[in-house]
Amino acid sequence: MNAPTDRHAQTAVPIHPLLAARASTRAFAPDVDLTDAQVTALLEAARWSPSAGNTQPWRFLLAKRETGEFKRVLDCLDPGNRDWASHASALLVGVRTDANAKGPLPHAAYDLGQAMAHLTFQAAAEGLTVRQMGGFDAAALAAEFELAAPLVPTTVMAIGVAGDPSYLHESVAGPDRNPRVRLPIDELLIQP
Ligand SMILES: Cc1cc2nc3c(=O)[nH]c(=O)nc-3n(C[C@H](O)[C@H](O)[C@H](O)COP(=O)(O)O)c2cc1C
Repeated sequence: MNAPTDRHAQTAVPIHPLLAARASTRAFAPDVDLTDAQVTALLEAARWSPSAGNTQPWRFLLAKRETGEFKRVLDCLDPGNRDWASHASALLVGVRTDANAKGPLPHAAYDLGQAMAHLTFQAAAEGLTVRQMGGFDAAALAAEFELAAPLVPTTVMAIGVAGDPSYLHESVAGPDRNPRVRLPIDELLIQP
């Protein structure tokens, strides 16, 4: 096994240590249960995220490991995600609602993503790691949990304590040891 690489963000100037240290791992420490206080803190962080018109178009389906719900969510993941995600302490489905009683909510996906980001950083503060997934069957998940429009399952998060990737298949463990990379700021700035 290669020595673990430092996966901290390499930044031009210091950023908050929580942001620099956050990484999406696919290796989870085994047999870790989230405490009720941790779960509440994660949901509070998401709940206090901003949203367009304070519409709060986010809903969450939380499935702790070793529950029937966990297995039902797991079965809706793409095969490439199912194996590593099975070791997480919990799977959390991020569901957006595309409308409320007043009409359509065009910013719902943006708002849900922001709530998930808040949850992610609270997770880091709790000593937890999160990996988000777009690789799942949204229609199957909606059918499994009877989520009818305007509710739309949008992402699934695996949550747990980061573990040693050596127990994973090398195709998964390898990338999880690599340094994290980003486009340079120059490429992100649109020059008028
Ligand atoms: C919307 C979204 C979908 C993602 N889908 C998957 C996925 O299906 N499987 C996976 O292993 N990682 C997935 N990821 C994780 C990304 O690959 C990861 O965040 C990215 O490589 C950057 O790594 P970092 O979070 O450690 O900086 C997803 C992340 C996001 C935000």
